[in-house]
Amino acid sequence: MSPTPTQRPTPPSCRVWLRRRCLVLSMVVLSLALTMVTTRSAWAWGRMGHRVAGQLAESRLTPVARRSVQELLEPGETLADASLWADEQKREIPESAPWHYVNVPITETGYNPRFCPDTGCVVSKIPEFQRTLADTTAGRAERARALRFLTHFVQDLHQPVHVGDNRDRGGNDLQLQYFGKGTNLHRIWDFEMLERGELKLSTLYGQVSALVTPERSEQWSSGSAIEWANESFVLAQKAYRAPGDGRLLRAGDKLGQAYEDTFLVVARERIARSGVRLAWLLNGTLK
Ligand code: ADE
Ligand code: ZN
Ligand code: ZN
Repeated sequence: MSPTPTQRPTPPSCRVWLRRRCLVLSMVVLSLALTMVTTRSAWAWGRMGHRVAGQLAESRLTPVARRSVQELLEPGETLADASLWADEQKREIPESAPWHYVNVPITETGYNPRFCPDTGCVVSKIPEFQRTLADTTAGRAERARALRFLTHFVQDLHQPVHVGDNRDRGGNDLQLQYFGKGTNLHRIWDFEMLERGELKLSTLYGQVSALVTPERSEQWSSGSAIEWANESFVLAQKAYRAPGDGRLLRAGDKLGQAYEDTFLVVARERIARSGVRLAWLLNGTLK
């Protein structure tokens, strides 16, 4: 009697092939996972910057706002976790990709609504998602989505080269060296400066929260998305120039200590401002 197909033993060569395929498959899975962990988005503060801003904001919520945030987010999800969500949605929600920035040419004098496409930009999306979050007749899922987008976009708006642009996608196309390593202006601001050296999240949190004094937080707790965009814009105009002689950066320029001495504290302060302002917005919206 010949065995039925399901009973037929796998020939040895086939077993080897199966094992090999299994090995190849696990290598593919492993390298994909590694890529996901190590690849950085070209469109946002690094994950650490977002997390620190989210954690700082959460620490400043009123009890009422804190309760609403907890009710909207998933169990155990913190505002630091929620800060990363929008960057993970660029593939699932492709129309959201341009909402992370607005390209204002650094030759202009400031933000103007004509720089914001009809499909939305970081400046227009902040009040829009704030309205949805405030609308208690809207569904929980819709308000949770608005909270996650709002959180992330307040943070991105404070990144200077998410506003200022020199026809190079906010510096993404301006290749530079930073402390001897090839990178671009946008990445220097997203994370290279903030995370240089094996920086721990708790260290960055300490550096950022040390900048928040009662006087500053009172001063920072004001304004609108347009005003915050203009702050970022003025900083971007400076970020595009070499410290010292002030000439415009050119592809291939080598940046290092002088750039860090001028701008690292600025980058940390932008994270601090975004945390304070997000808390201020949420405390006013979730009453
Ligand atoms: N893509 C195009 N312009 C950009 C900017 N200013 N910031 C981030 N990503 C962009
Ligand atoms: Zn982003
Ligand atoms: Zn970015």
